[in-house]
Amino acid sequence: MSPTFALLGLLAVSVPLCNGKIYEDPNEIPSLDSYDYVIVGGGLTGSVVASRLTENSNTSVLLLEAGGSHQGVYYIEVPGLQNFTGPGTIYNWNYTSVPQVNLLNNTIPAPRGHVLGGSSSINGMWYTRGSSADYDRWANVTGDQGWLWDELQTYFEKSESFTSPVDGHNTSGQYDPTLHGTQGPLQVTVGGYSQSLDQLVMGRLDEQFPFIEDYDDGEPIGFGWTQTTIGNGSRSSAATAYLDNYLNRTNLDIAVNSLVTRISASNGSSIDTVTLTANGIPINVRARVEVLLAAGVFNTPHILLNSGIGDATELSAMNIPVVHNLPSVGKNLTEQPAVSNLWNTSSPVPAAEAEAAYEQALAQWNSTRTGRMVLAISNTVGFARMNMSNLEVEALVEQYGELAPGPASPHFELLPTVNAFDAEANFANAEFIFDTVNLVPYSRGTVTLDPTNLMGDPLIDYNFYSAPQDILVMRQAILGALSFVSTPDWQEFLADPVSPLFAAVVGEYPNVSNTTMDAYIRASTTISFHAVGSCSMSPAGADWGVVDPDFHVKGVKGLRIIDTSIMPFAPAGHSQAAAYVIAERAADIIKASN
Ligand SMILES: Cc1cc2nc3c(=O)[nH]c(=O)nc-3n(C[C@H](O)[C@H](O)[C@H](O)COP(=O)(O)OP(=O)(O)OC[C@H]3O[C@@H](n4cnc5c(N)ncnc54)[C@H](O)[C@@H]3O)c2cc1C
Ligand SMILES: *[C@@H]1O[C@H](CO)[C@@H](O)[C@H](O)[C@H]1NC(C)=O
Ligand SMILES: *[C@@H]1O[C@H](CO)[C@@H](O)[C@H](O)[C@H]1NC(C)=O
Ligand SMILES: *[C@@H]1O[C@H](CO)[C@@H](O)[C@H](O)[C@H]1NC(C)=O
Ligand SMILES: *[C@@H]1O[C@H](CO)[C@@H](O)[C@H](O)[C@H]1NC(C)=O
Ligand SMILES: *[C@@H]1O[C@H](CO)[C@@H](O)[C@H](O)[C@H]1NC(C)=O
Ligand SMILES: *[C@@H]1O[C@H](CO)[C@@H](O)[C@H](O)[C@H]1NC(C)=O
Ligand SMILES: *[C@@H]1O[C@H](CO)[C@@H](O)[C@H](O)[C@H]1NC(C)=O
Ligand SMILES: *[C@@H]1O[C@H](CO)[C@@H](O)[C@H](O)[C@H]1NC(C)=O
Ligand SMILES: *[C@@H]1O[C@H](CO)[C@@H](O)[C@H](O)[C@H]1NC(C)=O
Ligand SMILES: *[C@@H]1O[C@H](CO)[C@@H](O)[C@H](O)[C@H]1NC(C)=O
Ligand SMILES: *[C@@H]1O[C@H](CO)[C@@H](O)[C@H](O)[C@H]1NC(C)=O
Ligand SMILES: *[C@@H]1O[C@H](CO)[C@@H](O)[C@H](O)[C@H]1NC(C)=O
Repeated sequence: MSPTFALLGLLAVSVPLCNGKIYEDPNEIPSLDSYDYVIVGGGLTGSVVASRLTENSNTSVLLLEAGGSHQGVYYIEVPGLQNFTGPGTIYNWNYTSVPQVNLLNNTIPAPRGHVLGGSSSINGMWYTRGSSADYDRWANVTGDQGWLWDELQTYFEKSESFTSPVDGHNTSGQYDPTLHGTQGPLQVTVGGYSQSLDQLVMGRLDEQFPFIEDYDDGEPIGFGWTQTTIGNGSRSSAATAYLDNYLNRTNLDIAVNSLVTRISASNGSSIDTVTLTANGIPINVRARVEVLLAAGVFNTPHILLNSGIGDATELSAMNIPVVHNLPSVGKNLTEQPAVSNLWNTSSPVPAAEAEAAYEQALAQWNSTRTGRMVLAISNTVGFARMNMSNLEVEALVEQYGELAPGPASPHFELLPTVNAFDAEANFANAEFIFDTVNLVPYSRGTVTLDPTNLMGDPLIDYNFYSAPQDILVMRQAILGALSFVSTPDWQEFLADPVSPLFAAVVGEYPNVSNTTMDAYIRASTTISFHAVGSCSMSPAGADWGVVDPDFHVKGVKGLRIIDTSIMPFAPAGHSQAAAYVIAERAADIIKASN
C-alpha cells in the first residue's frame, strides 16, 4: 500500500462520512470515460437516482452539479432560515420570468436551487403528495399503468421515514402512520413547535372547511397538520438523505461547480457525452451506458435546446445545428399561480421584541435543535374544492368541465402563515399571510433560449391566465380565504389588509365585483414554486411530448430525463413528494433495463 493510500485509509476512519468524496474542482474528476451513468444535475431527482443506482456496487455514477456543496451551510440546515437562500444568493439560479401579459406585464421570480440537493436544499419543505386522481391521470395520459397512485405507494413508502417532531408532542390524530414509510432516507415530520395560529385555524373548522387527519391519503380535502421534510430539527433534503451517508461508495463520484452546457453523441448514434465547463474550460465526460438529465424544469430544456434537441424550425432560426427534431421540448410549462393575501394583525409584535425572539430562536436552535427555527413555514394547511352550488361556479363548470382530475381532488389551496418575527424584515411586509393557490392550472407556458445569449438565462414564460378558467378559479380561492376569516375570532385577530387593491376586495366582500377582484389578482399573482411539465411524458410513440413513460427521450438513444420537467400535469399540492416518487421509480426502471 502506498503512503497516500495509507493516509486515505486513516482519514476514512477518523473523518466523519459527510466529509467524503465531493470534488470541488471538476478537473479532479478521476476518470472521463469510465462511468456507467453520468447524471446532469445534483438536485432532488439527480441525488435520488445517483444514490439508488450505486446501491449496486457494479454500477458507477458521476453526478454533476453546477452549484456548490450543501454541507455545513447553516441557512440550508436551519428550517426557519429558508429566506436566506432566495434569489440573489449563491444557492439560487436567480431566474425571472419574461413579462406576463395577463399580469400587467409584471415579471415573476423563477427561483431554483443551485447547490447539491437542488431545490430540495432551498425549498419550503412542505411534503404533500396531491390526490390519487393526479397520478391516475398521469397513467391515463401516458398509457402506463405504473403511474397509477396505487402502484406508486411502494415508492412513496420507500423514500420516506416519518419521524417524531422535536418538541415530542403527542402526534396522535395529526397524521395517519399507515400511510407513511418508516425506513426510507427522507425524513418527514409534523411541526415541532406550536404557534397560537394553529388553534385559531383548527378552531375555525366546520362543514365548509373540514378537518383532514392526513392529506396524503389520496383525497386531500380539508385542513390538516402540515408535514415537512425535516428531521431532528434540520432540513432533510435529497442531498442529506440520499447522498451524505453514501459518500464512501467507491462507485459514486460527485463533482460540484460543474456547469453542464451540452450533451452529444460521440459517434453519431447514441448520446454518450456530457460537456461541462470548469472556469470556462470545457471538459467532456463519456457515459458507458446512459446520460440522465436531472437539471430541473428550466435547465433540462435549456441543455436539450443548446444540444440541438428541440423544435427544428426554432433551433435553425438560432443557428443551432438540429440533432433531433422534438417540438415539445420547453413547451407545456405548468405552474400553479398563487396570490399572497396580506393583513396586519390587531396585536403586532413590537420590532425590538421580534428581534430578541429571533436571536433567542437562533441560539436555541444552535444549542438544542429546537424552538421556532425548526418550523419551515406554518403548521396547518388546507385544500378545498370550489362551492359547486354557487351559480358562478356552476357556470364555470358548465363551460370548462370539472377542472380537477377527480371529484375528491381539490381546486385550490389555502395556506395560513404568521410572519415569524418581524413583518418589516420579511419579504411580505405583513403580519398575517393567507396564500391562495390555484391547484388546477390549464395555462401552459414555455422555456426557450434567449436568442441574444443562448447559454445565458433561459426565457421563462409562465403564460399565467392565458387559459381563461385559471383566473376564475383564483377568484373562488380568494373568496374561500375571505370566507374562512369571516368568523368573529378571525376578525378579532386581523386588522387592515396591507395593500389598497386587497383592501378594495375585502371592502366589497361578499359581493366582490369582477373588476375589483381581477384588478387585485392581476397585480398580485406570483408563483407557488411548483413549475413542471417542460419536457412532458406522453405515450410511447405519441407525436407530442418529450419522454416516453420509461423516461427515454423520444427518438434519441442513450438519454433519459428523470426530473420534474416530465410531469404532464402538476399534482394538486407541492411538487417535491411527486419528485421523490418519480426519481425512485426512474431508478428501478433504469436498474431493470440495463
Ligand atoms: C424556493 C422554492 C420553494 C419550494 N418549496 C417547495 C415546498 O415547500 N414543497 C414542495 O413540495 N416543493 C417545493 N418546491 C419545489 C421542489 O423543490 C421541486 O419541485 C423539486 O426540487 C424539483 O426537483 P428537480 O430534481 O426536478 O430539480 P432541482 O431540485 O431544482 O434540481 C436541479 C439541479 O440541477 C442543477 N443544474 C441545473 N442546471 C445545471 C447545469 N447546466 N449543469 C449542472 N447542474 C445543473 C441545479 O443546480 C440543481 O441542483 C420549491 C421550489 C423552490 C425553488
Ligand atoms: C457484480 O459483478 C460481478 C462480476 O460480474 C458479479 O459476480 C456480481 O454478482 C455482481 N454484483 C452485483 C451486485 O450485481
Ligand atoms: C429573513 O428573515 C429574518 C427574520 O424575519 C430577517 O431578519 C432577515 O433579514 C431575512 N433575510 C432576508 C435575506 O430576507
Ligand atoms: C445569483 O446571484 C448571486 C448574487 O449576485 C450570485 O452570487 C450568484 O452567483 C447567482 N447565481 C448564479 C447561478 O449565477
Ligand atoms: C404589455 O406589453 C405589451 C408589449 O410591450 C404592450 O402591448 C401592452 O400594452 C402592455 N400591457 C400593459 C398592461 O402595460
Ligand atoms: C382516460 O381519460 C379519458 C378521457 O378523460 C377517459 O375517457 C378514459 O376512460 C380514461 N381512461 C382510463 C384508463 O382512466
Ligand atoms: C396521545 O393522544 C391520544 C389521543 O388523544 C391518546 O390516546 C394517547 O394515549 C396519547 N399518547 C400518549 C403517549 O400520551
Ligand atoms: C436524531 O437525533 C437522535 C437523538 O440525538 C439520534 O438518536 C438519531 O440518530 C438522529 N436521527 C437522525 C436520522 O439523524
Ligand atoms: C460505507 O459505510 C457504511 C456505514 O458505515 C458501510 O455499511 C458500508 O459498507 C460502507 N461502504 C463502503 C463501500 O465502504
Ligand atoms: C458507435 O456506438 C455504437 C453503439 O455503442 C457502437 O456499436 C459502434 O461501434 C460505435 N461506432 C464507432 C465508430 O465508434
Ligand atoms: C401539451 O400537452 C398536451 C396534453 O396535455 C398535448 O396535447 C399537447 O400536444 C402538448 N403540446 C406540446 C407543444 O407539446
Ligand atoms: C448560531 O450558529 C451560527 C453558525 O454557527 C452562528 O453564525 C450564529 O452566530 C449562532 N447564533 C447564535 C445566536 O448563537
Ligand atoms: C363575473 O364573472 C363571472 C364569470 O366570468 C360571470 O359569470 C358573472 O356574470 C360576472 N359578474 C358580473 C357582475 O359581471
